This record gives sequence, structure tokens and C-alpha cells, in this order.
Amino acid sequence: MDRDLVARYDSASGAAAYRKKYEGSWIRRLSNRRELAVVRTALARAQTRGRVLDCPCGAGRLTPSLLRFADHVICADASASMVAEAQDALRGRADAGEVTFITASAAALPLADDAVDTAVCHRLIHHMANADERAPVWAELARVAKRRVVISFSDDSTWKARSQRRRGVDRRRSALMPEQLNAEAAAHGLMPIGEPIRLNGLHSLVAVAVFAVDGGA
Ligand SMILES: C[S@@+](CC[C@H](N)C(=O)[O-])C[C@H]1O[C@@H](n2cnc3c(N)ncnc32)[C@H](O)[C@@H]1O
Repeated sequence: MDRDLVARYDSASGAAAYRKKYEGSWIRRLSNRRELAVVRTALARAQTRGRVLDCPCGAGRLTPSLLRFADHVICADASASMVAEAQDALRGRADAGEVTFITASAAALPLADDAVDTAVCHRLIHHMANADERAPVWAELARVAKRRVVISFSDDSTWKARSQRRRGVDRRRSALMPEQLNAEAAAHGLMPIGEPIRLNGLHSLVAVAVFAVDGGA
């Protein structure tokens, strides 16, 4: 587990600040809306249904979008403070039996094989330094998902990424070419469905990719 990454969010104040982050300015709210629209496009491509895993769930930002496709969402995050924020934000949906919560690492999920239809992993792997760190996360997503894995990554193939590289901008993130992403996924029996969906065309760093689980129709 990336202890620094979890530590950043694993305090009541850090988690509360993350929950507010996407509501701050109108630009934040707009970019949040656009990002959620990209996630929904990916979920539609995945033909998501049934039970869905949202890991890391953070403060539950994506969960209402996931519930447009799913009957039940399992929210998981390595930070107990984040899970507490998500529980607070999603209280009504949880009371209705639509959401459950677990504090767990994406690299060691306390879920059975094929426990969900689709595993969604948004804004996690770009924090991970290399393929060795990402491998246990891929393995767990592929294990618990019966049909699809939907995962975001920092896309190194876009015009913006190339421009930042040329200028020597330190992105503090692990960016991947789509071919690298697909190769890592293939090692866990995941096959891409279409090209990654980019948040903002070539002027984008965040992209969302959809994978079919080997044997999952
Ligand atoms: C940038 S936030 C993204 C949260 C949410 N997906 C969103 O987009 O709003 C990253 C989250 O990853 C969690 N995290 C870090 N390492 C983790 C791990 N190994 N397994 C599960 N969650 C982790 C952090 O606690 C934090 O909530």
C-alpha cells in the first residue's frame, strides 16, 4: 500500500478537505461534472449492472453516478477517515440499502472472487510509482470483478502530457501510455474495450479505460 498516499487522506481534516475540493470554485464544479460524465460514458460502455465496487471511493463523489447503473455499490477505501466522509455523504443511499462500506486497500480486498459485476478504480493508480506497485491492484480488481474493470490513469500519450514532458514539468504522478496500461491489464486477463475515454480530448491528463474480464461476457 502507498502509505504516503493514504496518510495524506487519512485524517478527519484531510478527508473533509477532499470532500469539499470539488465544490470549491465554479471551475472545480464544472470539471467535476465533466469528469463524472466521462465516468458514466465508461460505465455505459461497460454495460455496468448489478453490484459495483467503487475503490477508492474517497468521499463518495462517484457513487451516485455508479448507482445510475448499479443496484448496489460497495464503497472501499484504505483511509478510514475517507470512508467516514463517504458514509456521511451517502447516508440516505446507505439507509436505503444501496451502498455498503469497507475500509480496505485496493491491493487486498476482503471480497470473494466475482463479488461484483464491475470494479471501478478512479484516481488511484496514477499515484503509484511503478508497475510492481500497480500489479496487486490489477490482480484484485480482476479477481473481484465478474465482467468489467473501469480504471482511470494519467495518460502520457496526449498533447498536454507531451508538452509537459518537453517543458520538464514535474507531474508528481506516474503517467502511462495506453499500450503500457493495456499490457499491465493483459497480465491479469483483462482485455480493453475501445480506446481510453479522455476527459478533455488531447488537452487532458486523466483518461478512463474499460476492460473485459477474461471469461466475463
Ligand atoms: C484522489 S482520491 C480519489 C477518490 C475518488 N475515487 C474520487 O475520485 O473522488 C484517492 C483515494 O485513494 C485512497 N487510497 C490510497 N491508497 C489506497 C489503496 N492502496 N487502496 C485503496 N484506497 C487507497 C485515498 O485514501 C483517497 O481516498
